[in-house]
Amino acid sequence: MRLSLLVLTTALISCTPKSMPQPTAKDIHSSGNPEQIAVRHVDLDLNVSFENKQLEGAAVLWLDQVDGTANKLVLDTRDLKISSAETSSDNSKFTLAPYQLSSPDKILGSALTIEIPTGARFVRIRYASSPTASGLQWLTPEQTAGKRHPFLFSQNEPISARSWIPLQDSPAVRLTYSARIKTPAGLSAVMSAEHDAATDGAFRFYMNERIPAYLIALAVGDIAFESTGARTGVYAEPSVVHKAAKEFEDMTKMLEAAEHLFGPYRWGRYDVLVLPPSFPFGGMENPRLTFATPTVLAGDKSLVSLVAHEMAHSWSGNLVTNATWSDFWLNEGFTVYIERRIQEAVYGRRREEMEAELGRAELVQEMAGLPAKDTVLHVDLTGRDPDDGMTLVPYEKGYLLLRQIEEQFGRERFDTYLRAYFDHFAFQSVTTAQSLDYLKQNLFQKAPELAAKIPLDAYVFQPGIPPSAPDPKSEALAKATEAAQLYATQNTIANTQGWSTQELLHFLRALPPHMTTAQMSALDNRLHLTHSGNNEILQQWLLMSIANDYRPANQALEQFLLTVGRRKYIKPLYAELIKTPEGNSRANAIYARARAGYHPIAQATMDALWK
Ligand code: BES
Ligand code: ZN
Repeated sequence: MRLSLLVLTTALISCTPKSMPQPTAKDIHSSGNPEQIAVRHVDLDLNVSFENKQLEGAAVLWLDQVDGTANKLVLDTRDLKISSAETSSDNSKFTLAPYQLSSPDKILGSALTIEIPTGARFVRIRYASSPTASGLQWLTPEQTAGKRHPFLFSQNEPISARSWIPLQDSPAVRLTYSARIKTPAGLSAVMSAEHDAATDGAFRFYMNERIPAYLIALAVGDIAFESTGARTGVYAEPSVVHKAAKEFEDMTKMLEAAEHLFGPYRWGRYDVLVLPPSFPFGGMENPRLTFATPTVLAGDKSLVSLVAHEMAHSWSGNLVTNATWSDFWLNEGFTVYIERRIQEAVYGRRREEMEAELGRAELVQEMAGLPAKDTVLHVDLTGRDPDDGMTLVPYEKGYLLLRQIEEQFGRERFDTYLRAYFDHFAFQSVTTAQSLDYLKQNLFQKAPELAAKIPLDAYVFQPGIPPSAPDPKSEALAKATEAAQLYATQNTIANTQGWSTQELLHFLRALPPHMTTAQMSALDNRLHLTHSGNNEILQQWLLMSIANDYRPANQALEQFLLTVGRRKYIKPLYAELIKTPEGNSRANAIYARARAGYHPIAQATMDALWK
């Protein structure tokens, strides 16, 4: 380990400006100046204090003088308490450096500008995060499965790395990292990196591949590990880890399927950390260590497409990264495509078809409520929080584009193309323009008559779904639609024996928006929906229960909102509740109790519902 760091130091110091791929587009969501001085490595030394809800310590940044003349380094920060900045030419003798923190911008935070004397190659910043850092959630023991120890996790994407590390927080700026994390006695730390055995109560990590800041990740808690194969495994609280390892036992197969399609997995291990239920997302593709919600532990592997998705990001996103948040579809659209290819390889075409059809239906539904300008793939985020562009559009409209190309050019050709794309741009950040240029040169120009059928511009720059876009159909879901119609017209529940989660979900969504209590109750008795252990089904049922004022589900709804913090689940539930005055007061009462347990970004999303 030490050796590889030494080698790295030498490589960084001796590298000429030209040898480094430069950021390719101005990122409006970062104040950093990587075109002048770029940060190539960060070495963190942080102490984890649950009492103060803060990370406190130092970050040493290794600089690359890109234009050779700049004497100021500009970094992103948000709510950081900076206590000093120092510079050094040798990473051992540091001298104090003047710095300035700009007044905070609501979206971007504060730019930290540090004066860099000629010859300085290292900057050390002593700092602490705020207890309300947007990228951290500090959980009380009650919010964990074990109920005895606190828990901390980070969530950096898109622009929250800056709330706990002073960095150039742009996906176009790639760096390696190392860390020493000091935790309270008995608690472990894990990161999106390789680790050494813990010594002196501190945990040490190394990420020797260049990644954007949004992929740096940390979690601390009572964390156990269970292996699921030579390269894969699961981290979780001790009472959860075995169930999670069973649920995800196909990870090795998934990894092999992905490698077979798109080339070698370049990150060493692939592990999943299952977090407590307040985790605001389904999953987050932190390299080597996906972070995941426990709400996917259904007991029957029915929701493991989430793992396929996060694993797919090891190619699309982590290896080839969107250069700005307007290019987010390059991460997510490509990833949904690969996710479904993995699903098909491991669980069969039937499952893939169902998920593709459900995906398009969700896209159509969400698009109906979006302004036209947000239904293009390359979104204009000027003056906006990048979170605003993070709808299903980059995911599912992006998927439809890639699927249309696949159908037009044939699988074999498209697979070969994708593999070459990942090789060509490996460990780089690319813009939409770069990605499309490469597509035109390496695929479209070779078969113009096929390329002519793909309305590339309509996908990328025009609103809506192009008329020629694929419309994936699954026979199984068609039967579920029929079953819903049968219930709506004749109150007869079809034989649902052997139905998958996807079929049941589709059946529920295809039912009429208004049903009588008797109809709701008959469904509930037959399908045990209020007590479903499958969160995807339960959330759909709770939505319907609110809309139809089905009171036997009230208790389950309250319980769900008080424990689950996954934004995709809870936002629609609150939104449905507040449609009526009575529901609104229920929502207020529940939210008053639940809010403290939600992640800062989930809190912000829910707060906005009442504005
Ligand atoms: N990278 C995203 C999570 C993300 C998106 C974090 C936007 C911050 C901003 C991750 O890969 C993802 O897409 N997760 C999905 C699940 C997936 C199966 C579609 C989620 O969390 O719902
Ligand atoms: Zn994703």
